[in-house]
Amino acid sequence: MRRMIRLRVKSLAFALSGIALFGLLAWSAASPKKPVHHWVAKKKPAAVKLSPALIKEGAKLFKTERCINCHMMGKTGGKFGPNLTHYGKDKNANIAWITVQIKNPAAHSKKNRMMAYPKLKPIQYKALAEYLMSHK
Ligand code: HEC
Repeated sequence: MRRMIRLRVKSLAFALSGIALFGLLAWSAASPKKPVHHWVAKKKPAAVKLSPALIKEGAKLFKTERCINCHMMGKTGGKFGPNLTHYGKDKNANIAWITVQIKNPAAHSKKNRMMAYPKLKPIQYKALAEYLMSHK
């Protein structure tokens, strides 16, 4: 009888550690570490001339809209979202795609966890996009 109880305790502990391990794996898979684009479908190549004035405006918005709270930009920023320091290196990044990502991330994937910014002005989405694209 005593052995039975011990066995049960053992298998319970085993099951619990399995659950913990699964949780840990799920958590690490869910936290993005570098700019990866596996959660998005396609992006078309960009062929635009960036405007210095818009880039400047985008830099301001990146702070005032708190993008920086979740995204690393250079040496500062949060780690909840992907690091955007070299976002402009991605040749597939373009204004239309970035605008959708900011306006309604769920349109790219239902699993996206970025908050939506539905109320910015069209020029502000553009400014943010150009700011990001200027970061090579
Ligand atoms: C609450 C945290 C959070 C805030 C605030 C936030 N983001 Fe994000 N962002 C994320 C996460 C998480 C992702 C990864 C995809 C997803 O889950 O939506 C992401 C993805 C992105 C991507 C796509 C990156 C890639 O690899 O293609 C861009 C671009 C982006 N964010 C820009 C912005 C901009 C610009 C702002 C501010 C207007 C902003 N984000 C505000 C969390 C955030």
